Amino acid sequence: MTRQFNTVGIVGLGTMGAGIAEVLARTGVTVVAVDVDETALDRGRGHLTHSTDRAVAGGKLSSADRDATLARISYATSLDALAGADLVIEAVPERIELKAEVFAELDRICGPDTVFASNTSSLSITEIGVHTGRPGKVVGMHFFNPTPVLKLVEVIRTVVTEPDVVTDVVAFVEGLGKTPVVIGDRAGFIANALLFGYLNHAVRMYESRYATREDLDAAMRYGCGYPMGPLALLDLIGLDTAYEILDTMYHQSRNRLHAPAPLLKQMITAGLLGRKSGRGFYTYDGPDSPVVV
Ligand code: 3HC
Repeated sequence: MTRQFNTVGIVGLGTMGAGIAEVLARTGVTVVAVDVDETALDRGRGHLTHSTDRAVAGGKLSSADRDATLARISYATSLDALAGADLVIEAVPERIELKAEVFAELDRICGPDTVFASNTSSLSITEIGVHTGRPGKVVGMHFFNPTPVLKLVEVIRTVVTEPDVVTDVVAFVEGLGKTPVVIGDRAGFIANALLFGYLNHAVRMYESRYATREDLDAAMRYGCGYPMGPLALLDLIGLDTAYEILDTMYHQSRNRLHAPAPLLKQMITAGLLGRKSGRGFYTYDGPDSPVVV
C-alpha cells in the first residue's frame, strides 16, 4: 500500500528548508518546521512571507491561498515536535556530524515507519542512514534553488533503501508538481555532478583574467540560452555552498575538474558569499535585488 505523507517535518529553515516548506504547504501538506531558536525560525518565516507575497504579486497565488499555505506551517525549536510526522526532510548546514546528530535524535523521537530524507547537496545518504536504526527508510530528496520555481527533485536511493520507500517518495514528489529523477548515492548526484565542473571552470577563467564577469555570463546566457551566467548563478547558490559541494566531489572522485578554484576560497574568507551577503562576483542591494555593480 502506498504511504501517504500528510504531515511532513522540515528540519532547518534556511533558504532551502523554507523553500521546501512553501512547496509542500502550497500543495496541501501539513508542515512542522523546526530550527534551533526563535531567531532562525523568524528568518525562515521571513523567507516564506516574502516568497508567497511574491507569488501573489505575480498572479501565481491568490491572497486566500497564501493565507491557507502559511496556516499549514507550524514552527518549533525542538525535534520532539516531529513525533507524529510521516516524513522528515532535513535541510541543516552541510556538516556530516550535524546531520548524524539530527537523524540519531529523530530516530528516537519518530515512529518506526517515518521516512527520513536529507536535502544534502553532496554528502553521502548511506553515511547519514547508518546513524539511524532504519537505514532502509532513508533517502535523499535534493531540491533546487529557487525551490518554488525549479521543478527537479533528485531522489537518492542507497544500497539498502527499501524499493517501496523510493516508489512512495517519487509519487509524493510528483504530487507536489515536481519532476523526480532517481539516482544512486554518489557525490553531486546528477545535476551538481554535471553543473559544478562548469561553474568551477568559469571561476578559473575569470581568475586568470581570460574574460570579464559580464562577458563570461553573457556568453552562456546568449550563446547557450542558460537563464543565468555561471558567475551570477554562483552568487545565487552561495560561494560557501558551492565550495563545499566542489570540495566534497573532489575528495570523492579526485577529478581535477572539481578541485575548487583558489579564488572561491579567497572570496569566502573575505565574506563575499554572493547574494546572501550582498556581494559575490556582483554587488546586490538585497537577496532578490538585481545586480547593482
Ligand atoms: N523565490 C520564488 N520565486 C522566484 C525566485 C525566488 N527566489 N526567484 C525568481 N522567482 C520567480 C519570479 O517570481 C518569477 O515568477 P513569475 O514568472 O510568476 O513572475 C519567475 O521566478 C522568474 O523570475 P524573474 O522574472 O525575476 O527572473 P528570471 O526569469 O531571470 O528567473 C531564475 C530567475 C528562476 C532564478 C532563473 O534565472 C533561473 O532558473 N536561474 C537558474 C537557477 C539554477 O540553475 N538553480 C540551480 C542551482 S544549483 C542548486 O540549487 C543545487 C544546490 O545543491 C546548490
